[in-house]
Amino acid sequence: MADVSMDTIVNLAKRRGFIFPGSEIYGGLANSWDYGPLGVELKNNIKQAWWKKFVTSRLDMVGIDSALIMNPKVWEASGHIATFSDPLVECKNCHERYRADQIDTSAPCQKCGEKNTFTDPAAFNLMLKTYLGPKEDATAKVYLRPETAQAMFVDFAQVLATSRKRVPFGIAQAGKMFRNEITPGNFIFRQREFDVMELEYFVHPSQWEQHFTTWLATMHEWISECGIQTEKTHDLEVSEEDRAHYSSRTVDIEFDYPFGRKELYGLAYRSDFDLKNHSEHSGKELTYTDPSTNEKYTPHVIEPTFGLDRTVLAVLVSAYDEEVGKDGETRVVLRLKPHLAPIKAAILPLMKKEELVAVARPLAEQLAAQFPVEYDETQSIGKRYRRQDEIGTPYCITVDYDSLEDKAVTVRDRDTMVQERISIEKLPEYLRGKIG
Ligand code: GAP
Repeated sequence: MADVSMDTIVNLAKRRGFIFPGSEIYGGLANSWDYGPLGVELKNNIKQAWWKKFVTSRLDMVGIDSALIMNPKVWEASGHIATFSDPLVECKNCHERYRADQIDTSAPCQKCGEKNTFTDPAAFNLMLKTYLGPKEDATAKVYLRPETAQAMFVDFAQVLATSRKRVPFGIAQAGKMFRNEITPGNFIFRQREFDVMELEYFVHPSQWEQHFTTWLATMHEWISECGIQTEKTHDLEVSEEDRAHYSSRTVDIEFDYPFGRKELYGLAYRSDFDLKNHSEHSGKELTYTDPSTNEKYTPHVIEPTFGLDRTVLAVLVSAYDEEVGKDGETRVVLRLKPHLAPIKAAILPLMKKEELVAVARPLAEQLAAQFPVEYDETQSIGKRYRRQDEIGTPYCITVDYDSLEDKAVTVRDRDTMVQERISIEKLPEYLRGKIG
């Protein structure tokens, strides 16, 4: 596999309609990104695969989809109002702000060049604020959620009562969250609004370590199932001073992005920090009574968290490949896992001729009812193959003049470029078997 630069990934993503800058006709908006027609399919496929693996295919998991704006008391109890902040310094000359832990405060200001100019670090809360309703005063102030986790704690008793699960069990959620990041950047790596898939796994306090170990292994299993290069992932035991305020142990899974080794996912041991705090602040009991022993306790929590946009980035980086063919031409190919590929098959009449289109078009319509396909009849077949390789389509199906006689098509495999003749009648079943 070729090592790929960020420029190559960003260009491919834009050129082919995976991801492009948001609000671009107005000059964009500070690192906001829009997922285009192919990007939204890729992102949804990842989210669905995650939900299937971590929620619906397990008997010990349930999901929720909570409101993005929660009662502000949630963020008081969770500690986010008091401690969810980064240290900021400001240039006294041009008032540019920087994260104190990311710059050398004895160097000149990067914007105006002034020396010895920085203020002492001050805490800057990362929660995005807005007002609910017609009054814009303190009583109407609310926050866009900075993590999806809190709803799983706040709804704990409700979910426990209605789902009738027994500890150990987990609650999962996937959705948007918001952080007023000081230095967004590196494409979709650090944004101010982004998607996360995470779960809170409730366990007996004495068993947290074994569950932690199991979840770390399951996270690595997922990484490999996504086709993310496992040799580029590394576990980092996060030191106490670098851990989030709620965590008693954190292992970050880092990934070697083209811009360096940075966090992909996190696994935190949140102990009973959240349930206890919400119980104290709300006055509601958030405990569990074991039906066989009658032991009553506050469950402890293991939290595996998966940034969805970072998954998309790691998947693209891992799937990107370049190959020089016998003709000396470079073939760009996205070796996406078939279940994640935005388009599963492309149906291509060899030429734009009425008799070929008459077979190819209905075939494309028939297949589209089962999985996402593209129909493409313009340009040379070579160019059309190249486009499909670049967007990661696992199979190209060519309808040629022989098809009119033998009622079969040529199926070209994206990775091996091997071509196989398959009868049109058996094609849907053949593709379903390959795509999974
Ligand atoms: N509930 C735990 C939690 O929120 P986090 O490590 O702060 O943990 C979760 O964030 C995940 O979200 C990270 O592991 C990362 O994958 C992703 N993430 C964090 N900040 C991000 C940002 N600004 N842009 C995109 N993804 C981000």
